[in-house]
Amino acid sequence: RTVYLNGEYLPENEASVSIFDRGFLMADGVYEVTSVLGGKLIDFDGHAVRLQRSLDELDMRSPISKEDLLEVHRELVRVNEIDEGMIYLQITRGAPGDRDFVFPDPETTTPTIVLFTQSKPGLADNPAALKGMKVISIEDIRWGRRDIKTVQLLYPSMGKMMAKKAGADDAWMTEDGFVTEGTSNNAYIVKGNRIITRGLSNDILHGITRAAVLRFAQEAQMEVEERNFTIEEAKDADEAFVTSASTFVMPVVEIDGVSLGEGVPGRVAPRLREIYLEESR
Ligand code: PDD
Repeated sequence: RTVYLNGEYLPENEASVSIFDRGFLMADGVYEVTSVLGGKLIDFDGHAVRLQRSLDELDMRSPISKEDLLEVHRELVRVNEIDEGMIYLQITRGAPGDRDFVFPDPETTTPTIVLFTQSKPGLADNPAALKGMKVISIEDIRWGRRDIKTVQLLYPSMGKMMAKKAGADDAWMTEDGFVTEGTSNNAYIVKGNRIITRGLSNDILHGITRAAVLRFAQEAQMEVEERNFTIEEAKDADEAFVTSASTFVMPVVEIDGVSLGEGVPGRVAPRLREIYLEESR
């Protein structure tokens, strides 16, 4: 696999980063995951805009223009022959050559940028979408700026492990009893023809897939309500689902051992998945 590191295309085993990189020492970095379907980038613009916002919020300069970034994405898809899969992009504050809590001078320390591809054949026709996912609920103990897509993923990773241990597929996090989001996706419930999802704030990541799916839902005359919902309300819903660049729209059929509806994907989530894939391909 060819990867991109600080302006160069390299074989993955020749790409290396300093031990003083602040991404490594302090999780001082941001990332994006963009999906690829049929060799085509999905929602590149949305990801580029969110990336810039994450950088701005952390006072970090982008080491690359949006046009060059698009070119790197396309080149990696081409050289690695990605038909279905993902592109991972990470920008960290760089390697000042020592460990310090103070941000390094951006004139002397340039950010580190890394991109690599992940081939995932069968991403669109994922059989998991026919079965649906089981989730457990866990307390959301992450920091208060979840709208910034930082590489601090230890708690989401622990949440995923808690889910696996409990025989489930993922965890929904709750704060004051209200669902914030999944470990790496946005969370929704469905009641009748109404889709309910938490509104945008610093409490959740502003999902690029979320924005597209809500737009498609409204175009399909479905009702969308952006408001907080509790895990109890979710267990009582007709359907539930999550969205992300890596799962698109994925039905949720069980929450904390309680089956939703018939315990199989309902009507709304599979329809939204279909629309999303149709519109994106
Ligand atoms: N995760 N919420 C969280 C906490 C996420 O990490 C993600 C994405 C989302 C969905 O955002 P989007 O629709 O823009 O992918 C919501 C990516 C896929 C990841 O970490 O792999």
